[in-house]
Amino acid sequence: MAILLLLALPLLLYSPSLSSASDSLTKGSSLLVENTNDLLISPSGTFIAGFFPVGDNAYCFAIWFDEPFCSNNCTIVWMANRDQPVNGKRSALSLLKSGNLILTDAGRITVWATDTVSESSVYLQLQESGNLVLNNSEGDILWQSFDFPTNTLLLLQPLSKDKQLVSSRSQTNYSSGFYKLLFDNDNVLHLLFASPSITSLYWPDPELLVFEAKRSTYNNSRRAYFDPLGNFSSSDKFFSKSADYGANFQRRLTIDSDGNLRLYSREDKRDAWTVSWQAISQPCIIHGICGPNSVCNYVPSSGRNCSCLRGFKMKDVTDWSLGCEPEIKLCSTNETNFLRLTHVQFYGYDYGFYPNYTLDRCKEVCSQRCDCPGFQFRFSKHGNPNNTPYCFVKFRLLNGYRSPSFEDDFYLKVPITIPLYPAPVEESRLHCAVEITKLDRVYTKIPENRTLKFLLWFASIVGAIEFTDCKPDVEGNYDKTQMKILVGVALKCANEDKDTRPTMRQVVEMLLQYEKHNSESVEFTIE
Ligand SMILES: *[C@@H]1O[C@H](CO)[C@@H](O)[C@H](O)[C@H]1NC(C)=O
Ligand SMILES: *[C@@H]1O[C@H](CO)[C@@H](O)[C@H](O)[C@H]1NC(C)=O
Ligand SMILES: *[C@@H]1O[C@H](CO)[C@@H](O)[C@H](O)[C@H]1NC(C)=O
Ligand SMILES: *[C@@H]1O[C@H](CO)[C@@H](O)[C@H](O)[C@H]1NC(C)=O
Ligand SMILES: *[C@@H]1O[C@H](CO)[C@@H](O)[C@H](O)[C@H]1NC(C)=O
Ligand SMILES: *[C@@H]1O[C@H](CO)[C@@H](O)[C@H](O)[C@H]1NC(C)=O
Ligand SMILES: *[C@@H]1O[C@H](CO)[C@@H](O)[C@H](O)[C@H]1NC(C)=O
Ligand SMILES: *[C@@H]1O[C@H](CO)[C@@H](O)[C@H](O)[C@H]1NC(C)=O
Ligand SMILES: *[C@@H]1O[C@H](CO)[C@@H](O)[C@H](O)[C@H]1NC(C)=O
Repeated sequence: MAILLLLALPLLLYSPSLSSASDSLTKGSSLLVENTNDLLISPSGTFIAGFFPVGDNAYCFAIWFDEPFCSNNCTIVWMANRDQPVNGKRSALSLLKSGNLILTDAGRITVWATDTVSESSVYLQLQESGNLVLNNSEGDILWQSFDFPTNTLLLLQPLSKDKQLVSSRSQTNYSSGFYKLLFDNDNVLHLLFASPSITSLYWPDPELLVFEAKRSTYNNSRRAYFDPLGNFSSSDKFFSKSADYGANFQRRLTIDSDGNLRLYSREDKRDAWTVSWQAISQPCIIHGICGPNSVCNYVPSSGRNCSCLRGFKMKDVTDWSLGCEPEIKLCSTNETNFLRLTHVQFYGYDYGFYPNYTLDRCKEVCSQRCDCPGFQFRFSKHGNPNNTPYCFVKFRLLNGYRSPSFEDDFYLKVPITIPLYPAPVEESRLHCAVEITKLDRVYTKIPENRTLKFLLWFASIVGAIEFTDCKPDVEGNYDKTQMKILVGVALKCANEDKDTRPTMRQVVEMLLQYEKHNSESVEFTIE
């Protein structure tokens, strides 16, 4: 039957059409990945469950909000197999005669199962709350998706003991990411960064004691949920009202791939989601956000940016969470200096705390340790009645964060060959310090001085434009293709989210590619 269907409907394009969707699945029936109408719809049509495309010929069985025109970017609220997508052919969700609900990949292996058993008849239904429920004819609930959240809680869906929300890897990759919302052993609801090599709690503020954070450790029921009015509350006494508290809106609580926990709301399925509450207002506080050996800067317009420390380079130019790696191994040389970075702090990973050590003694401690990349030093009168210095010697540089409010200085160990001129942090991402107005499509026309300045600045960094004897001759004597590339970069800089800007290395690669082919093969999408 499945094979016949497959032959009959070979190349249907995905679209979340509602035409012949069923309202429940019974024993012996299946939802087939090829059949785009094999969907479960909640009674009033708020939610849809079915196979959702997550990549090239890759599908996950998911629940999402019904929204107009959301073909492959609908708001997913639950996934069965986020870390193991199935093939676009011969994959199915089947309710077996035994009562077990299974997801099979390409007609062969079972990638997911509810492991339920029932002698009597069973029904799989998507309720109006967004809960996918498997019940028997006695009305007992055998399994429900609300008990196995992925990255989102829906209205009145509790986060309970031993459950957690886990972020997606990125906005476009639905696999499990590094951020979690869970109750820890102290009965307190926490946000946790958990990469393969590092785990650290970052909410509530780890520098506060539990009671200072207005939480309680005494209620071990461990439950958190949000109510219809927009009050998110938890058994550890945490609660917070949404900005639109009281309104009868659609809502969802999601741990986003950037590690922030946000309550979203909207009046209607045709509206865009707005953030009505978030756990963290200063995104650089989120651990792991820029990876090791880098510094997070707070940028009012876009939230944050990341940059590598001097002497370090990005490990993977497409992924900041991997951070930066040293350009030169420091222990291969005994000749080191310390570069002072003002208002910079690296949270945690102290090898030791040395009270009342002078700067020179602190330097000495770090110099003598091969594994010491630097130290935090404070010599401030504020909050320091004895006027004694503090020296925190680090063994790893994580959670780097620059803020004018920090009185600390950080001293970075650098090879003696690196100049100590005062440029605190090496910027490795495209720098759009000069504000750019939209350029004309015609790349030879440069309408504004600011743009010109930017291009000159940019060119001097990349070394892409030939200058006549730094009078820069930008009006005439330049390579049109290179200029086109530069203008393209400038436009990217002006138009896009700052976090998605190309890095210097990518820009250089683009230019090198041009040189290799010596043709107009490098194209930017210029609006
Ligand atoms: C994807 O979602 C965004 C915002 O949610 C929306 O603006 C855009 O139109 C959607 N794209 C498609 C192809 O539906
Ligand atoms: C299964 O649950 C649904 C929704 O709660 C309900 O409508 C249905 O009657 C239940 N089935 C049985 C057999 O109890
Ligand atoms: C999504 O992320 C996972 C985990 O990091 C990775 O293994 C997978 O290759 C990624 N998928 C895509 C399409 O990039
Ligand atoms: C939100 O919920 C908490 C816990 O149930 C409660 O103490 C608080 O009063 C509620 N706030 C509002 C505005 O309803
Ligand atoms: C513990 O939290 C639950 C909510 O999860 C609440 O119903 C109960 O009253 C709380 N117990 C105490 C002693 O505060
Ligand atoms: C990051 O933000 C800081 C603070 O606004 C700014 O000084 C710096 O130039 C930015 N760096 C990059 C690479 O955009
Ligand atoms: C550094 O190493 C060089 C040669 O490797 C040696 O001559 C010099 O004495 C060393 N300096 C210190 C301070 O250990
Ligand atoms: C700090 O060290 C100095 C000498 O280096 C000493 O005079 C002073 O009493 C010390 N202060 C404290 C608070 O230990
Ligand atoms: C460019 O800037 C100079 C000096 O700032 C000014 O005199 C000139 O008019 C500007 N040109 C344009 C096109 O804005």
